[in-house]
Amino acid sequence: MKQARPEAYRIKSFEEYQEKYKESIENPEGFWASVAENFHWKKPWDRVLEWDFEKPEVKWFLNAKMNISENCLDRHLENRGNKLALIWEPNDPKERFVRFTYRELYHEVNRFANVLKKNGIGKGDRVCLYMPMIPELMIATLACARIGAVHSIVFAGFSSTALADRIQDASARMVITSDGMFRGAKEIPVKRIVDEALESCDSVEHVIVVQRTRWAVDMKEGRDKWYHVEAREVSDECPAEEMDSEDMLFILYTSGSTGKPKGVVHSCGGYMVYTAYTFENVFQYEESDIFWCTADIGWITGHSYIVYGPLLNGATTLMFEGVPTWPDPGRFWQIVDKFGVNQFYTAPTAIRALMAYGEEHLYEYSLNSLKVLGTVGEPINKEAWDWYHIHVGRNRCPIVDTWWQTETGGIMISGLGGLSPMKATYAGYPLPGVLPKLLDEQGQEIREAEREGYLVIARPWPSILRTTYGDHERCKLTYFSHFKGYYFTGDGAKRDKNGMYRIIGRVDDVINVSGHRFGTAEIENAINKNPHVIESAVTGYPHPIKGQGIYAYVVLRDSEEDEENIRAAIRETLIKEIGPIAKPDLIQFVPGLPKTRSGKIMRRILRKIAEGEPGKLGDTSTLLDPAVVEEIVKGALV
Ligand code: PRX
Repeated sequence: MKQARPEAYRIKSFEEYQEKYKESIENPEGFWASVAENFHWKKPWDRVLEWDFEKPEVKWFLNAKMNISENCLDRHLENRGNKLALIWEPNDPKERFVRFTYRELYHEVNRFANVLKKNGIGKGDRVCLYMPMIPELMIATLACARIGAVHSIVFAGFSSTALADRIQDASARMVITSDGMFRGAKEIPVKRIVDEALESCDSVEHVIVVQRTRWAVDMKEGRDKWYHVEAREVSDECPAEEMDSEDMLFILYTSGSTGKPKGVVHSCGGYMVYTAYTFENVFQYEESDIFWCTADIGWITGHSYIVYGPLLNGATTLMFEGVPTWPDPGRFWQIVDKFGVNQFYTAPTAIRALMAYGEEHLYEYSLNSLKVLGTVGEPINKEAWDWYHIHVGRNRCPIVDTWWQTETGGIMISGLGGLSPMKATYAGYPLPGVLPKLLDEQGQEIREAEREGYLVIARPWPSILRTTYGDHERCKLTYFSHFKGYYFTGDGAKRDKNGMYRIIGRVDDVINVSGHRFGTAEIENAINKNPHVIESAVTGYPHPIKGQGIYAYVVLRDSEEDEENIRAAIRETLIKEIGPIAKPDLIQFVPGLPKTRSGKIMRRILRKIAEGEPGKLGDTSTLLDPAVVEEIVKGALV
């Protein structure tokens, strides 16, 4: 079996990046073939790429056969069998951490794969994972990949209703969960949430329950099985299923501008090559480094840069169960020092939250091991960038501001740690193979510097989404119809005179709260389920920690009920329908919403009010009832 040699595709200088970039645009097929050669394929490809953004249809490494778990594990056994693959740090610093070598992780994944098979799961079946950040989450993810089952990981902060929607949409046959979950000071009954969700899901045959908290939970006879009991009965060797490069690897649900989250589909071959390539180059990972990405595996960042990217390159990846502020706001830094973390990858919202606690929480830690710092998920403001650079990086670590999306599978625009020029608030240059452009309203390309436009990508890269599960038309409409011939990101951006990109933020009806995406329609649908509510409109507004907060304008039915009680009830509705992360920060009760004569809500006006700029509402003369705007401005909460 071909051993992993990430150094073969490692870029070592900015000049080399420029050469590689040029080559990747002039000859994308040759370029990606030379990267892909370094992986283990059971059968090579006939063609590197076929694509048509009209349909849309993109295929990479056609007819090649492979298995990504084999590339993550088996391939390292010969040279890295005793190297640490995973370090797991529990929520409570008093509990002992756990380490897995590549050989140990290999056996655990094989064992889990056999448990899946024993319970009737095979190639193409969808398996939903709803779990805390424990090693078994990574193990189960790779076990699915090993037998060709499609994983759909749902972040364990989502409510039972949101979980049920995702299970139903994917017709999952199995759910993997745990008895309970620790997160900071909170204890969350995950198994009970799964039970509630399954009341409305017919497709699920079995639930595998991993023991984490040792709480007593209800086990439904015939349906629910303890993982540790099942695991005793199977071997720790399981052959890797032969997958086509274009077979589905996973579904990951994300919010868009319509009410229902969509299942973004990634396939095996392209995703493998691209996540490995970007991990190696963006973070400049060296063989004995310890890499830590603080995301949850329930989001794309965790998929690509806790699990797949690091393991594909034979790296040591750290996984943390807890939160940055518990038991105190020094928790991240304590972990960095404890394990000697070399690359640290987190979100601007976490940086801002820690910044608010003050830098004294960093004083007692050396942080000497750090070499590269990364951010992801939302634009980083200058203050947070500076704080990160000075207090965490001690002025010596480069920061990579990595722009990408669930749909892109891997990092698209970013510096390469220490090689590229850095400019606060700028993501920087595109990765090799990525051809971004800025377009104006009419779809004309903007060539001059410093002008804002719609960010699109003109060519396919290996880990572009292939479809939205069960609804290809939606994929086409959302990403490939706004501007013909381009993938539309939904983001606005600008470029400086040196060609560096700065991402401004979403230009569609998506709000980015603490790096998590929500569609305004999705939140409105949930609010409208509250019996006091006639209708609502939601927009984002600048929030000092979360980046964007959720501002809800709500029209109520006549009622005697106290307004504070209704506010609390609306928040409860959100917690039930989506989860606590989607709770509105501000709820303003309004007599009506600003609508055009055709009944369309003028969101632009509501957005300006929420941004504290009621003087910039623009033309309101086309409104059905302009007086309503005055009322809203008078009662505004910012
Ligand atoms: O608006 C951009 C923002 O996050 C969106 C993608 O969200 P999601 O699919 O949840 O993936 C987040 C993690 C990859 C983008 O459309 N975003 C992501 N990274 C950045 C960013 N905005 C600015 N700068 C970034 N580095």
